[in-house]
Amino acid sequence: MTPLKWWQTAVFYQIYPRSFADGNGDGIGDFKGITEKLDYLANLGVDALWLSPHFPSPNWDCGYDISDYCDAAPEYGTLNDFKTFLDESHKRNMRVILDLVLNHTSDEHEWFVESRSSRDNPKVDWYVWADTPPNNWQSCFDGDAWTYAPERNQYYYHYFMKQQPDLNWHSPEVKEAMWQAIRFWLDLGVDGYRLDALGTIFEDPNLTPHTVPMNLAELRHFSDLAKTPEEIKLRDQYWHDMFKNQWAQGGLHELMKELRTIMDEYEGDRMLVGEDENIDYMGDGKDELHLVFNFALMKTGGITPEHIRKNQAERLKRLSELSAEAGWPCNTLGNHDNSRIHTRFGDKLHDAELARLHTALILTLRGTPFLYNGEEIGMTDYMLTDISQVKDTMGTWYYHALVNDLKVDPREAMARTAEMTRDKNRTPMHWSNNPNAGFSPAGVSPWLPVNPNYQDGVNVKDQTESPYSLLNYYKRLLKVRKNSPALIHGEYIRVHETAADYFAFLRVSEEQKVLVILNFSNRPYHLNFSDIKECKAHKLHSLFTSAEISPKDQEIKEVRLSPFEVYIGELQSVHA
Ligand code: NOJ
Repeated sequence: MTPLKWWQTAVFYQIYPRSFADGNGDGIGDFKGITEKLDYLANLGVDALWLSPHFPSPNWDCGYDISDYCDAAPEYGTLNDFKTFLDESHKRNMRVILDLVLNHTSDEHEWFVESRSSRDNPKVDWYVWADTPPNNWQSCFDGDAWTYAPERNQYYYHYFMKQQPDLNWHSPEVKEAMWQAIRFWLDLGVDGYRLDALGTIFEDPNLTPHTVPMNLAELRHFSDLAKTPEEIKLRDQYWHDMFKNQWAQGGLHELMKELRTIMDEYEGDRMLVGEDENIDYMGDGKDELHLVFNFALMKTGGITPEHIRKNQAERLKRLSELSAEAGWPCNTLGNHDNSRIHTRFGDKLHDAELARLHTALILTLRGTPFLYNGEEIGMTDYMLTDISQVKDTMGTWYYHALVNDLKVDPREAMARTAEMTRDKNRTPMHWSNNPNAGFSPAGVSPWLPVNPNYQDGVNVKDQTESPYSLLNYYKRLLKVRKNSPALIHGEYIRVHETAADYFAFLRVSEEQKVLVILNFSNRPYHLNFSDIKECKAHKLHSLFTSAEISPKDQEIKEVRLSPFEVYIGELQSVHA
């Protein structure tokens, strides 16, 4: 077998820098804070960190509107502070990948300031300009996608907010400038990039209008109210039709290939993971992206055994069509753009049990897992109650559109905004039961309100001290994964395929065979695996169970499962 690359065996952990740890006590997370927490992360057992944007930014989109690609945001520290964070991570054997935003810059980036300044400057075509809005395209964040710039008496295009103008990727100069920025961080030693919104980089060259009979605010409003199957179907159709000409257009594969060539020039297997679920962006598995996220797994109302089986069957089949060893999966259930796992996939009765199942799923499926900061202590969404608290401008824009244009009652508008804004899943990390959850010192107002449930045990310190906490569950599970070659690179084999309540599968490598059972129901089970080919003449040595800290071995013909149990056992030959 070809030796695996580091990004195939690693467990990634996403750090949202603004909310992770406030080292200088100004209410905003920073490099000092992150660096102080590296021992915590190493001890947790993760191998690689994905750092959401840490670049200078006016923060219209919380760092995804970059005004300088080659520096650190002053509120996070200096470039030297970044280097310290990088070196200290490497010293602890943790790799670091950065966010790479190619589609757009901030409107305060000097490239845009120059491009906007006149119709005859050297960067005149670095962005997408038109004399009049050529169509009815919408921005997915704030209404019309074409915004007027009086300096040029022209309109520029933006897929996201008007403060995030789209770069013109047909310009060779844009490409060269961005490749230089990429090299800047690779030269400093970063291990790769997560590619932001890559599907939005090119637009339909014919500028074909969308056919949806409403604008963005109306579509969001319609979506909020859609209840019947017909309305839900129409809602999905409208979202697709509204943006289909602004998404996944020609030119992307060539661009990804160019980018991959740059990555491959560097030693150390620098990697790229795309914020896209389309496996086509992995090219032949060796010439475009290394990984794309399995978003299809998380795009569901509920994580059921049936949904997981179907998802795995489709993804793994498609990945197996890539060159040998190259079609590597990448699984996640949460990030800074989505409702937190605990809230989104909970049922309000068994949230704690379900959170354990969901983590176990991500850590035992074949592929590279990505975890989001705070998941490990069971952080939940926090609903803001007043529009003045909302920092996600996509949320404030929607609130004002609801109240002013669609005449929705402000209280209802606020409740809906709290649901849709990503602030709810970006609140500061809970380090302890101290004021401000130990994120910032007492008396400081963190940039987003702290979820008060840090006082009820949802914090690192309390959970460190409790052997049965979710945090210690994560640590145990990560350790089992690290010590189980089959869980890292074994084939995935489905068993008991029709079971509606539980999801059982084998992971089989040359060195080891492992049985994983995730009981998604509140019923206990006695299960017989002895007639399965891989299990015959094997006994079951328990490696892990959510039911107790030191699991007892089980009989292969009668595996006893308690309600909501996560069970992992190693198959051992009885002839050995
Ligand atoms: C995807 C990022 O994850 C999201 O947070 C951001 O708002 C958009 N891309 C625009 O960069």
